[in-house]
Amino acid sequence: MPAEDPVFLRACRREPVSHTPVWFMRQAGRSLPEYLRVREGIPMLESCANPDLIIEITLQPVRRYAIDAAIFFSDIVVPLKAIGIDLDIKPGVGPVIADPIRDKDAVSRLRPLASDDVPYVTEAVKGLVAELGDIPLIGFAGAPFTLASYLIEGGPSKNHDRTKALMYGEPDIWQSLMSALTEITIGFLRTQVAAGARAVQLFDSWVGAVAPEDYTRYVMPYSEQIFAAMADVPRIHFGVGTGELLGLMGEAGADVVGVDWRVPLDDAARRVGPGKALQGNLDPSILLAPWEVVEPRARQVLAQGRVAEGHIFNLGHGVLPNTNPDQLARLADLVHEVSAR
Ligand code: CP3
Repeated sequence: MPAEDPVFLRACRREPVSHTPVWFMRQAGRSLPEYLRVREGIPMLESCANPDLIIEITLQPVRRYAIDAAIFFSDIVVPLKAIGIDLDIKPGVGPVIADPIRDKDAVSRLRPLASDDVPYVTEAVKGLVAELGDIPLIGFAGAPFTLASYLIEGGPSKNHDRTKALMYGEPDIWQSLMSALTEITIGFLRTQVAAGARAVQLFDSWVGAVAPEDYTRYVMPYSEQIFAAMADVPRIHFGVGTGELLGLMGEAGADVVGVDWRVPLDDAARRVGPGKALQGNLDPSILLAPWEVVEPRARQVLAQGRVAEGHIFNLGHGVLPNTNPDQLARLADLVHEVSAR
């Protein structure tokens, strides 16, 4: 009989598990002093193109925490940079695009991404898989809506108003842009899976800005194509403020729906319906409070998660930079202890 798959993969597939698996979005990064040390003087995008650094940073949280999965260290704009878009990641700001994409000509200059465009991704994933042993590596990409928002707005945005203006006002350009981003996203995810990533997470971080009807019309067809192209591995779909979209995000083809902290997991399970696992959803800011506050909240997330057919414990969004790593270490241990069966 083949050895049993790791619990993280089993939970994604809604199979019985010995304990609830746990990992943390942004588990690698500025909350870790060892991350700040290795990143000193090296810009973010340079780090993302350096296989040795990618491997080291991805492994840092695995050394500290009893986590059930690692996530590839990169950024959602890395594939955009790789096809020649002039952009940078500014510390404390996020991705900034030199020439925002707002017309037909700019869209026509986008091209698909091939593995050859990101050799450092292939090399780093292969190196990581060798180091990680039984711990699965999650590959990831930004979803077309979230990438479109950065490209159209030119940087981070609160209301995504230019993005929505183009979506409503220039549906043909929107369609071309979303199709181009769909191909790029599939290229980036397929590269990671070809090199050994065992699951993928599609981050549609900012899609909570659109109403369900518009999601169905302007966003979902593209996410569907991406999930259809990734059917050989478990697929996680996450966004922020997506309470009203959870059902549709599952329907788009995800195996696991990521939930932020605004919707309790038992409620989320009802919204998503049968046949899906859930991931989430402790408010990351709770970790800034004393452990006595964190523990009951984490137990509550686990209890609510039992309603779902499969549960992967995570935060409702990424680890905040000022989080004490010791809190995350205790949290990972608590999840394992409380959920052991
Ligand atoms: O989760 C992980 O541990 C993997 C690494 C990861 C990063 N970015 C590293 C990063 C992942 C999965 C991402 C995805 C990403 N990038 C998303 C989707 C996830 C989400 O948060 O919703 C988004 C929206 C981005 C765009 C982006 N890149 C933002 C908003 C920022 C933060 C800007 C800032 O400085 O506050 C970045 C930069 C970034 N990506 C950092 C890291 C570790 C910080 C860069 C630094 O250390 O200087």
